[in-house]
This record gives sequence, C-alpha cells and structure tokens, in this order.
Amino acid sequence: MQNIVVLISGRGSNLQALVAADLASSPIVEQRARIAAVISNRPGAGGLDIARAHGIPTRIVDHTAFAGREPFDRALMAAIDAHAPDWVVLAGFMRVLGHDFVLHYAGRLLNIHPSLLPLFPGLHTHERALAAGMRVHGATVHFVTPDLDSGPIVAQAVVPVVEDDTVERLAARVLEQEHRLYPQVLRWLVSGRARLGEDGRVRFDPPAPEAAALVSPPLGYCD
Ligand code: GRF
Repeated sequence: MQNIVVLISGRGSNLQALVAADLASSPIVEQRARIAAVISNRPGAGGLDIARAHGIPTRIVDHTAFAGREPFDRALMAAIDAHAPDWVVLAGFMRVLGHDFVLHYAGRLLNIHPSLLPLFPGLHTHERALAAGMRVHGATVHFVTPDLDSGPIVAQAVVPVVEDDTVERLAARVLEQEHRLYPQVLRWLVSGRARLGEDGRVRFDPPAPEAAALVSPPLGYCD
C-alpha cells in the first residue's frame, strides 16, 4: 500500500475528488494507495472537514506560527515524513515551498495548477486567460521543481473559453476537469503506468500520450 499525503490550504474540492477516487481499492495490491494524512497550513481550511468526515488523519502546520519559511518548511517536512509518503500531493496549497523542501521530495511531489502551464504561472490564472483572449484554457498536473509552477508535466486538461465568458464560469469549467485529472494522474503514478524519466520528462508505459490530454468537450464538438 502506497501512502499519499495531501497538502491543502482551502476548500479541498480536489482532495474530495481524490478521496472519491478510492485508490486504496485497486485490484492489484501493490498498486493500492491510501490518503495517509491531510495537512493544512490554515486551521480553518474547509478541506480538513472533508478529511475528518472520511476518517483521514489531519494535521495543521500553521505558517503564521513560524519566524520564516525555513522553520515552517522543516516543521512541514517532519509532519509529512511521519506518514512515510510515497507521494506528496499539493491540492490548493497556497505557500511557496523552499528549495530544500522541494529537493527532499524530488520525484514524488505533485501540484495541480489552474492553467495550461507554462502559460500563466502564479495567481489569477482565469482572469489572465480571459484578458489574453485565450480560446482554450485548462489545468496542469506536474512534478514540482524549485521554480514556481514549473516542473515536468504529467497531464493537462483543456477546456474552451466561450463567448462572453466570466471568470466564475471559466473557473468552474476548469475545476470540473481538475477533479478528473488529479485522480487519473495519481492512478497512473501509483500503478507505474506513468513515471518521471531520468531526462526529466514523464513517460507512459505502455505509451499513450493522448491519454494525458483531457479535452472537454472533445475536439469536434462544434462541427
Ligand atoms: C484549484 O484550482 C487548484 O488548481 C489550485 O487551487 C485550487 C484549489 O481548489 N492550485 P480546492 O481547494 O482543491 O477546491
């Protein structure tokens, strides 16, 4: 059984999607994974209630209680490592993590970002996609490297930007796909179907690059 530790800061809808995916019930024993713990840097994060409701251990490591990033990162690492994680999954975790932290979890630290990276790293991605006149937008799951919102891409989900879109509607359209994308990526990684190659690119075995591109609605919908 592989261990997943999920880090959150907020409402936890991606956490909810990972819980619902029930990776612990894979038919192949070595390919099972459980959410071993949910850790939040914010005591009031809604996602903590989701974890508690499913009997998942929770922990709060409140960044405001630390003098700076390094002591916070060290405390967070200790809290995570207590659960012997195979995978550390950032799901709406809103703190930038330091170099040592990222290197400590190299190859097992994942993030979901609400844009088609490398476009629009950072905040306010939906506003920026609309302002740029994008016709498509989406979400990316990637391995985390020390630079913000960068690192080897595992999979992306693409949604259309429609006429007279609003930030709220576009955000909801992307979020719906995030909830499909993150569990799928975890299934691939836990099963070994996808892995991070030594060249820093993600490989699929058997190869199926199209499987890593969710397009919703599928291309051709407006024919
Ligand atoms: C998601 O849009 C995710 O891509 C971003 O933060 C948001 C978290 O939402 N990193 P939730 O807490 O999972 O509902």
